[in-house]
Amino acid sequence: MELILCKNYDEISERGANIIARAMIDKPDCILGLATGSTPVGMYKRLIEMNRASWIDFSRTTTFNLDEYYPISPENSQSYRYFMNENLFNHVNIDKKNTYVPNGSAADAEAECKAYDAMIENSRGIDIQVLGIGINGHIGFNEPDENLITGTHLTALTESTIEANARFFDSKDEVPRHALTMGIGSIMRARKIILLASGKNKHDAVMKLLDGKLTTACPATMLKLHPDVILICDEAAYNG
Ligand code: GLP
Repeated sequence: MELILCKNYDEISERGANIIARAMIDKPDCILGLATGSTPVGMYKRLIEMNRASWIDFSRTTTFNLDEYYPISPENSQSYRYFMNENLFNHVNIDKKNTYVPNGSAADAEAECKAYDAMIENSRGIDIQVLGIGINGHIGFNEPDENLITGTHLTALTESTIEANARFFDSKDEVPRHALTMGIGSIMRARKIILLASGKNKHDAVMKLLDGKLTTACPATMLKLHPDVILICDEAAYNG
């Protein structure tokens, strides 16, 4: 795992955006795996600026998002589909029909997960996967557990994740208790992975990424088995 240590959040956003921009320039029809949460927002802003300056072009880009709450309507302002439209897709020249987010309003969650995996498999595969990290080490919504799941699946959120994500909702009670998420296998199949971590509260999770151990109690540690992962973190996350 390569480490890029940044001074602050702005530098993380800049470094992350530069890596994605480089990939988009090298491969105009590249496939991006995208993440939600507050951490990638600055990077998305930077990508929007680059697109407006005509440095990068999204017209041939395809995206697959990691996860979505379940059940939730795509029109709900707390849905990850809405988040992606607001924070990136509405502001760049991407064709929305090439942007995929698991459907949180699918009647049959299992069928939706299978169809999502099939779509990724039938694509040319994810070139760069963007990840944030939960304070408990989750990636996507792959929560700490005895077993981790390889493919896209319906999962129950842990109490710690419900609490951490309550800041986006009017109250904790409104946070959905379940989500659809790509599995660890889907994430690990990406050719390249960049993981962004910012702030003191990510320190413990970041330290577990940098020690020599793998544990399902910190799902992000599985990334140590991937040949091309870049951890982009700020001093607060690194030093605690
Ligand atoms: C959510 C998302 C994750 C994200 C994590 C961290 O639970 N499912 O993909 O990485 O939160 O979010 P933040 O960046 O806001 O700390």
